[in-house]
Amino acid sequence: MQFIDAHGAHIPQIGLGTMTLKEDVCVQAVKTALQVGYTHLDTAAFYGNEKEVGEGLRASGVKREGIFITTKVRENNLTPDLFQKSLDESLAKLQLPYVDLLLIHWNNKDIPFSVSIPALCKAKKDGLAKHVGVANFTTKMLDEAWAVTTEPLVCNQIEMHPFINQDKVVAASKKHGMAIVAYCPIARGKLEGGEALETIGKAHGKSAAQVSLRYLVQLGAIPIPRTATPDHLKANLNVFDFKLSDAEMAELKKLNANNMRVVNPPHAPVWDTP
Ligand SMILES: NC(=O)c1ccc[n+]([C@@H]2O[C@H](COP(=O)([O-])OP(=O)(O)OC[C@H]3O[C@@H](n4cnc5c(N)ncnc54)[C@H](OP(=O)(O)O)[C@@H]3O)[C@@H](O)[C@H]2O)c1
Repeated sequence: MQFIDAHGAHIPQIGLGTMTLKEDVCVQAVKTALQVGYTHLDTAAFYGNEKEVGEGLRASGVKREGIFITTKVRENNLTPDLFQKSLDESLAKLQLPYVDLLLIHWNNKDIPFSVSIPALCKAKKDGLAKHVGVANFTTKMLDEAWAVTTEPLVCNQIEMHPFINQDKVVAASKKHGMAIVAYCPIARGKLEGGEALETIGKAHGKSAAQVSLRYLVQLGAIPIPRTATPDHLKANLNVFDFKLSDAEMAELKKLNANNMRVVNPPHAPVWDTP
């Protein structure tokens, strides 16, 4: 496994996404993932599966200390009392005393950063999160959050795959020394129109999904693909034994022009334009 370091956080460069994984499917996916070598799990209060993620962790038999666990607080819980309550509930469901990384899942435009960011920082000061960060922040929001934070924001978790151009927000995150955690790293399987992924994959004996993940890894991002299928779990981890050439990376970069955004809920910010 490769790692990305940011502000003292040492983050395994592939994680297991768990959105939509519920009940025993989630327990088994987490258990299998950890047993085949994953060391990074991504959940959120909103996913309603923290209890099952914790169960999968315990069922796997792996040592908790070796696993990097992220959870998130959603946009309607960003005032101090609600933030604390959400975090306490997450930890109780996970049956853990701390998470490795705690994120603001989405900003709430009605709550100023001078309120939400201190609530996030308190989690780190209290030892309930080893590191803190954000998700779905734009370049402007990053600058505003960094202006008030007392703790380093170690990552920006954003949608990233070959079909979206995120150059501006990636550059802004890097300017602040933040890691990029790439969600929807295989565009939820909507890889149609990306013949280049297939063609390049064939040249390396890899699938289109693996090429998408490898592209992100070579850009220095941390993909967190979601799957409960054992073969896909293994395949998604198996992206460190080949390298895309500069020409192949350039070919995949061309797909950015699609600018396909998979996740765009009503509470989304005004995104950076390419
Ligand atoms: N911060 C945020 O706002 C935010 C938003 C969205 C997602 N996320 C996080 O990012 C994670 C990943 O994003 P996502 O779940 O939306 O989408 P994703 O990981 O891009 O795609 C998941 C889909 O891809 C399929 N898949 C996985 N591996 C495959 C493989 N090797 N070959 C073919 N198909 C494969 C899965 O089907 P199978 O089950 O059949 O393999 C599933 O349908 C989430 O689970 C969540 O943890 C965060």
